[in-house]
Amino acid sequence: MAPVVEAVDLKKTYLLGKVPVDALRGVNLKVESGEFLAILGPSGSGKSTLLNLIGALDKPTAGTLLIGGVDISKLNDSQLADLRRRIGFVFQFFNLIPRFTALGNVELSMSIADVNRAERKRRAEELLETVGLKDRMNHKPAELSGGQQQRVAIARALANNPKFLLLDEPTGNIDSKTAREIMTLIKRLNEEKGVTIIMVTHDQHLAREAKRVVQVFDGVISSDMVN
Ligand SMILES: Nc1ncnc2c1ncn2[C@@H]1O[C@H](COP(=O)(O)OP(=O)(O)OP(=O)(O)O)[C@@H](O)[C@H]1O
Ligand SMILES: [Mg+2]
Repeated sequence: MAPVVEAVDLKKTYLLGKVPVDALRGVNLKVESGEFLAILGPSGSGKSTLLNLIGALDKPTAGTLLIGGVDISKLNDSQLADLRRRIGFVFQFFNLIPRFTALGNVELSMSIADVNRAERKRRAEELLETVGLKDRMNHKPAELSGGQQQRVAIARALANNPKFLLLDEPTGNIDSKTAREIMTLIKRLNEEKGVTIIMVTHDQHLAREAKRVVQVFDGVISSDMVN
């Protein structure tokens, strides 16, 4: 099977007015199905830039990115949109829709084309149960704690059976006890459900929970180690 992600000499330069900012300066990375990878590095090192490229949310300036063996620079807009729907993204700020309940937020992200309404509801309930929110399904985000909101975001990211889960500082906005609970959940998804996980963090303690730690420094990978 092709690696889920393969980056070859990946570069990203942002233009800030006329000033180029080299956020990634040649990243080589291969991630196989079933891995639990932490991307660790200081602020400004290029972690989010890398994650956004892997999530097909942004285009590299140079280099090649293969997702499931497919060179994404060869995809047209509709193929890219399809691919994005098969990648689960969890952000630091949970990005839930305030006027929808937990259930509504998870249901809404399911591609309408693939599943009928009853099936969407059933699957959303199942996912919320998986993340431990069976008894909070009808709460709106404002009626949930930070950790619970992040669980909803994780359930939502899993809704379309993603090829892999990308998490950008998933515990950045919750207290350390709740952060540990979220980490336990992420670990369980990897170990029990076989979900491939790529998680960005600047926290060494959290990175230790992953099976593999890739350190990013100043736009390049400075180390790549198995825990
Ligand atoms: N849209 C943009 N335009 C210009 N420069 C940018 C843009 N986004 C990021 N950068 C710059 O690119 C570099 C990498 O940013 P990135 O957001 O990837 O860092 P990060 O490792 O995720 O940091 P943090 O831990 O603070 O989230 C930084 O120097 C940042 O200032
Ligand atoms: Mg970031």
